[in-house]
Amino acid sequence: MTTMQPAPIRIPVAVPGAPYDVVVGAGVAGRLGEVVPVPPHARRAVVVTNPGVGARWGRAAREGLAGAGLEVGAVEVPDGETAKSPAVLGELWSRLAALPLGRDDLVVGLGGGVVTDLAGFAAATWHRGVAVAQVPTTLLGQVDAAVGGKTGINLPEGKNLVGAFHQPVAVVADTATLATLPPRELRSGLGEVAKYGFLADPGVLDLLEGDPAAAVAGDPDLLTDVVVRGVRVKAALVAADEREGGDRALLNYGHTFGHAIEAVTGYGTYRHGEAVALGMIAAARLGEALGVTEAGLADRTVALLAPLGLPTGGLTADPAALWAAMARDKKARGGVRFVLCRRPGAAFLSDPVDRAAVEAVLATLR
Ligand code: NAD
Ligand code: GLY
Repeated sequence: MTTMQPAPIRIPVAVPGAPYDVVVGAGVAGRLGEVVPVPPHARRAVVVTNPGVGARWGRAAREGLAGAGLEVGAVEVPDGETAKSPAVLGELWSRLAALPLGRDDLVVGLGGGVVTDLAGFAAATWHRGVAVAQVPTTLLGQVDAAVGGKTGINLPEGKNLVGAFHQPVAVVADTATLATLPPRELRSGLGEVAKYGFLADPGVLDLLEGDPAAAVAGDPDLLTDVVVRGVRVKAALVAADEREGGDRALLNYGHTFGHAIEAVTGYGTYRHGEAVALGMIAAARLGEALGVTEAGLADRTVALLAPLGLPTGGLTADPAALWAAMARDKKARGGVRFVLCRRPGAAFLSDPVDRAAVEAVLATLR
């Protein structure tokens, strides 16, 4: 007897001139040939992945594409953030040349945010831009990294320094892939999920607060709900402001603090969603100190994040070093501003904030 899977949920991302759908559902990675709008003259697709993800999910992806009549190649890149490097990108370009991957063909990014950022940038630059379908397999990738068209790699001088906006032709978020995620990666993704609750959709907070144990255990229905809700928020912000001239920046709730924490601690200590968790606590405390955030939001943030296994203190980095990292990051924009939350669902970009107020908040994260 075969089990009927519920129909996938489609969320349109109405970017002017480059609209596409995010398709969310269990098993959709095996149906890429049906759910991805393959470019009309495409002959080949190349699946870019890493060894671990490829071993688990590569075959389903390749078979789905072959079902659409495509000749399917595969390129594996190393696991980890170091794959977002000029050296790995250069090797990937060489592999595309060897296939060869033509200007009408398709790149498929199958993996976490590292793979989708790298595959997306390779697609953005190959033949001055070929189609990419993103198949994110981490929770962070499904709710954030693979959606919205930001692609890029790192340099020794800084993270994501080289990149391009290149919207995918589809994002295929197979929630079944989340079952094999290491627990820490799942928890890190839950930090990014919570962000959407604070900035736009308080229902996400209710879901996480209602059953944190189910969230941490990777309950498929709960994860599907929060992925869909998070993607809806991101889709609306990206469609209205693709290049981040305005409200797309609200997606950075918790991130000004979070990026500084990652940079100062050397990227090895905190997963991205963990740093964002600390950043959201800091943003709520800062907002309360400035009198712009409803009283109690910081305590609610801590009470929500702790049972998700996310950090709520224990930060040993020096507040002065963290301030310096934020000031460096924001130099071009004239002062350090933060996305703050008036109350769940209502976020805004602050005016520049004084160093003393920021450092005082950072000291509370020790
Ligand atoms: P990641 O890509 O390194 O994946 C985390 C780990 O999980 C890796 O070891 C990966 O191999 C493994 N993995 C992936 N899927 C799996 C699965 N289904 N089962 C078992 N293991 C699996 O990390 P991430 O957190 O997904 O992404 C982080 C990256 O995303 C960073 O480079 C960040 O800059 C980028 N990012 C980009 C955007 C954007 O808008 N483009 C937004 C947020 C983050
Ligand atoms: N992750 C923030 C953005 O895509 O804009």
